[in-house]
Amino acid sequence: MLDLVAEHAPYRGELLAAFERVLDSGRFVLGPEVEAFERDIAAWIGVPHAIGVSNGSDALLLALQAVGAGPGDEVICPTYTFFATAGAVARLGGKPVFVDSAECCYNMRADQLADKIGPKTKAIIVVHLFGQCADMDPILAVAKKHGLPVIEDAAQALGAKDKGRQAGTMGTLGTFSFFPTKNLGTLGEGGLVTTKDAALAEKIRMLRVHGAKQKYFHEMIGGNFRLHELQAAFLRVKLKHLDSALQRRWKSAQKLMRSLQEKWNAIMPFDSCVCQGEGASVEQKPGTILLPFSCHSGQGEHTWNQFVIRVTGKGKRDALREKLARDGIQTEVYYPRAMHEQDCFSSQRKNFPIAGNLAQETLALPISLTP
Ligand SMILES: Cc1ncc(COP(=O)(O)O)c(C=O)c1O
Repeated sequence: MLDLVAEHAPYRGELLAAFERVLDSGRFVLGPEVEAFERDIAAWIGVPHAIGVSNGSDALLLALQAVGAGPGDEVICPTYTFFATAGAVARLGGKPVFVDSAECCYNMRADQLADKIGPKTKAIIVVHLFGQCADMDPILAVAKKHGLPVIEDAAQALGAKDKGRQAGTMGTLGTFSFFPTKNLGTLGEGGLVTTKDAALAEKIRMLRVHGAKQKYFHEMIGGNFRLHELQAAFLRVKLKHLDSALQRRWKSAQKLMRSLQEKWNAIMPFDSCVCQGEGASVEQKPGTILLPFSCHSGQGEHTWNQFVIRVTGKGKRDALREKLARDGIQTEVYYPRAMHEQDCFSSQRKNFPIAGNLAQETLALPISLTP
């Protein structure tokens, strides 16, 4: 849905210069470009430690390993998310314990979190879905009460804020993806872990290189989760333009919002955020188009990584999608199946009514990012 060639056109010269710099340096993995990028992005986010890693999925795995999650542990996370969130828990032999979604922003229902905590709970992963932060205060309060670390999966939400606080700075650790379609996308793969905790940062740096501080002397079992010099060099170029790129996303989203109201009679489903569950029903005539709701009212707090509408009623979303395809408009479904409905998590097949409906009714529309 994204024209990446057009998006990169204004930076083409800078990207080619970055490529030549790395080519001529002869350093290709974990070198000065990665170090400089880590410094730049830490300053941009406003966090003391930022560790560049292979991708956003591995960033989650590393964050979980750093807080000691392993076989038999339970980790609470939303069911309506990209697979990597729950997948990272299972990759370590743990069990993801799912929570339903809020009707407003589709993020994790904070009011249902406490009920999921048990003796085996090791951590909570919050996802800032589609570029918008979850309602962090009630989540952080529950975590604090139970002494649990919070990992913010901010893969889609670099630059998003909750009450002025940047995504990836509110929990114990934050994780990001630099997949090409993300707010800061590279020309390949990349990821990041952020934290205020120096000891956790040190642990992640070691886990990134097979658990060794000193080469060939392994204190723990890690893996190869290194970020490449080329990707870091490209990311440094794109980071310089990130503020204006985010502004463009925000403006495009506002424009699309107005146009859908005028042309499709799309409606805003709520007056205020219902992350806590009150007044959360969206009973609407089948075929009603619901606009994406921003729980965070400040300009630029929602980063619009995806512009996701909801079409109420069985089969109505798919019918609209087919019609748009016939008109040459590409759309995407994020996500057609929640995690509790996946074959590989079949032991968790409980009823999560909101997430179940979202999987049937949401539709991501293209927004223009070119200047
Ligand atoms: C919420 C979420 N978490 C994790 C990831 C994984 O990131 P990556 O594709 O860089 O591994 C993604 C990527 O789409 C994501 O959307």
